[in-house]
Amino acid sequence: MSPRCGWHVVASLALCMMVQSARATDFGRQSYLLNCAGCHLPDGRGSAPNDVPSLHGAPGHMAGIPEGRAFLTQVPGIAYSSLNDAEVSEVLNWMLLNFNKDTLPASFQPFTEQEVKALRAQRPAEIFKVRRAAIEALRAKGVTLNY
Ligand code: HEC
Repeated sequence: MSPRCGWHVVASLALCMMVQSARATDFGRQSYLLNCAGCHLPDGRGSAPNDVPSLHGAPGHMAGIPEGRAFLTQVPGIAYSSLNDAEVSEVLNWMLLNFNKDTLPASFQPFTEQEVKALRAQRPAEIFKVRRAAIEALRAKGVTLNY
């Protein structure tokens, strides 16, 4: 083993990775509070009187199918936010892992910057059609979303 691979290097690498993942989590949370909570509220429950949907439940199901992943990146609050693609992937993953534990599929793949970039570049004129396509695809799999 070369001196550069001593235990202290392994230990500091592990620490570095822990710090990095803590930073990513924290960035997602802060970004959510700054960019999304004004409408969806800090706990993600939304506001029915203002037609702002809850972010609990449905997004987790959506994240498991391609139509839903397109919807999640193209919904106006996300597609037109000032966040860049990497930042959108972080805030989406934070929202999914924190508000949708019960509905996220076991096979959940976190969003990457590349996926967000490709999907978000498409700006559908009628987002409700994208949502309907996702709802139909989920229904075909036996999952009914209540809207
Ligand atoms: C200006 C208010 C506003 C802001 C800011 C906003 N949203 Fe929204 N969001 C809405 C409204 C209203 C809807 C429902 C209408 C629609 O589909 O466009 C919605 C829909 C959504 C949906 C779809 C939910 C579903 O089940 O249909 C998701 C996911 C979402 N927003 C996430 C976010 C995230 C993440 C952010 C921050 C990056 C954000 N929103 C910022 C108002 C907002």
